Amino acid sequence: MKETVLSGIRSTGNLHLGNYFGALRNFVRMQHEYTCYFFVADWHSLTTHPHPRDLHNNVKTVLSEYLACGIDPEVSTLYVQSDVPEIAELYLLMNMNAYKGELERTTTFKDKVRKQPDNVNAGLLTYPVLMATDIIIHKANKVPVGKDQEQNIELARRFARRFNTIYETEYFPEPEGFSFSKELIKIPGLDGSGKMGKSEGNAINLADDAKTIRQKVMRAVTDSGPTQMNQHPPEAIENLFKLMEVASPPETVLHFRDQYAKCIIRYGDLKKQLAEDIVALTAPIRERILEIQSNDAYLSKVVRMGADKARASASRTLSDVREILGFRRF
Ligand code: TRP
Repeated sequence: MKETVLSGIRSTGNLHLGNYFGALRNFVRMQHEYTCYFFVADWHSLTTHPHPRDLHNNVKTVLSEYLACGIDPEVSTLYVQSDVPEIAELYLLMNMNAYKGELERTTTFKDKVRKQPDNVNAGLLTYPVLMATDIIIHKANKVPVGKDQEQNIELARRFARRFNTIYETEYFPEPEGFSFSKELIKIPGLDGSGKMGKSEGNAINLADDAKTIRQKVMRAVTDSGPTQMNQHPPEAIENLFKLMEVASPPETVLHFRDQYAKCIIRYGDLKKQLAEDIVALTAPIRERILEIQSNDAYLSKVVRMGADKARASASRTLSDVREILGFRRF
């Protein structure tokens, strides 16, 4: 039997290159090898209190972007989290065996407390429980996510294992993180530090037009240049090389790395090349995004089909879980 792969993307706006290389590109390849579930995590997005005016469009954007990247809704199950109420019920049940202490210790939670000190809501605390529920409700084995999600996957494993232990069953498989390369890929941002992320404001979106991409890349943080032969590039420069490694042909990367090593590099040239390579990569995707976004009839068909398939699988799990917990019908 095929293994089950599942992943979700929070609907907080446009998908960026980090999402693409960290996840989406892999999803597309996996569709034919595994039973795949991909979804838009709109409940998760509520933890940061989006304006109701934006919610629907955010979901629509992410859905269109999934499709534009090549997720085939006939092959995979592509759905919106809030279309599957079974997830909310299983989340409630899973919350009873998740402990405040372990949730408070999660780095993603601590990060959020720092970033939004005025909105440390309970949903933020139990975010990993909802995420674990997303995964185990389809008994997924493999979860392709970026490096930043490793701890959430670890918690999902723990919650699945704990469920099996408490109820003396082997019901849930322990999901594992999954990447095509050995390391989970981390795409750097353009601001000289850390990873590419929407909230970091350092991202290149798949839907950005060529002009925007050029502007963003040209504004990327650099320094005054190498001073010694063969020196190690500092983080900001290494980040640009890393981006090149995913967007440009290997010869291009070698060329600029070599120029860096010889202290003859011109960052302007590197950025121009990088921008053009990113534009070439994203232009066809952007075109498909625009096309799909304007086709409401198609999108509505896709989400209905996805919800039907996802609910069929989720409700099977939920009825088993109710029974395992001791709920009986009168
Ligand atoms: N937490 C993930 C993120 O921030 C999104 C997500 C929600 C997810 N549920 C999931 C990812 C289940 C994988 C599996 O990107």
